[in-house]
Amino acid sequence: MANTPIDTLLSRRSVKLVGAPGPTDEQIESALAAVVRAPDHAKLRVWQFVLIKQPDILAVGEKAIEILAELGRPMPEDKQASTRAWLADVPLLVGLAHKIHHDHPKVPEVEQTLSMGAGVMNFQNAMHAMGFTSYWSTGLATFTEEMPEYLGFDTLEDQFVGFLAVGTPKNAVTPAERPDPWSIARHWQAQ
Ligand SMILES: Cc1cc2nc3c(=O)[nH]c(=O)nc-3n(C[C@H](O)[C@H](O)[C@H](O)COP(=O)(O)O)c2cc1C
Repeated sequence: MANTPIDTLLSRRSVKLVGAPGPTDEQIESALAAVVRAPDHAKLRVWQFVLIKQPDILAVGEKAIEILAELGRPMPEDKQASTRAWLADVPLLVGLAHKIHHDHPKVPEVEQTLSMGAGVMNFQNAMHAMGFTSYWSTGLATFTEEMPEYLGFDTLEDQFVGFLAVGTPKNAVTPAERPDPWSIARHWQAQ
């Protein structure tokens, strides 16, 4: 039986260990087309996606290790090894940032960040719908000035929010355990 759109949404889960094949540029374009359909107050178009392929993905990993060492927060040796092994097989890494419209009269920064989050979720769901999986990480020195600068962002104008690793799951994907939907919602009526 064919999957309906809701089946697709309900079967998504994040998978860290991904390998080839990654999405084609055409598939990436489809996922980006989903990003620009995220809710966007005042049409600020805050989304900034940086597409990184091999061997540059490995260079990002090395840079993260270098940045953290220079900041006096060195990545432990075993974590360095697992990070290198993880990144070596990732076919597409996406740097994620959003433009900051400072003191916007109608759209506070939290709304801009929420629009970015909605855009990233659309990208993840689109990739899942095309048979790929993705994993959002705020490791790899995300919350430093140096990593966003390395990727060409301006830390005063852009808020960097991490990376998506995108590809094909290396292992069988089992359904994730999820909360009861009614545990997060309640009806409300005026008294
Ligand atoms: C903004 C953001 C940053 C995240 N950063 C990390 C991270 O650095 N490391 C990690 O293990 N999971 C991180 N996660 C969680 C994973 O991306 C993923 O959502 C989690 O493993 C649960 O999988 P699920 O998406 O299938 O529920 C992050 C999630 C979000 C929304």
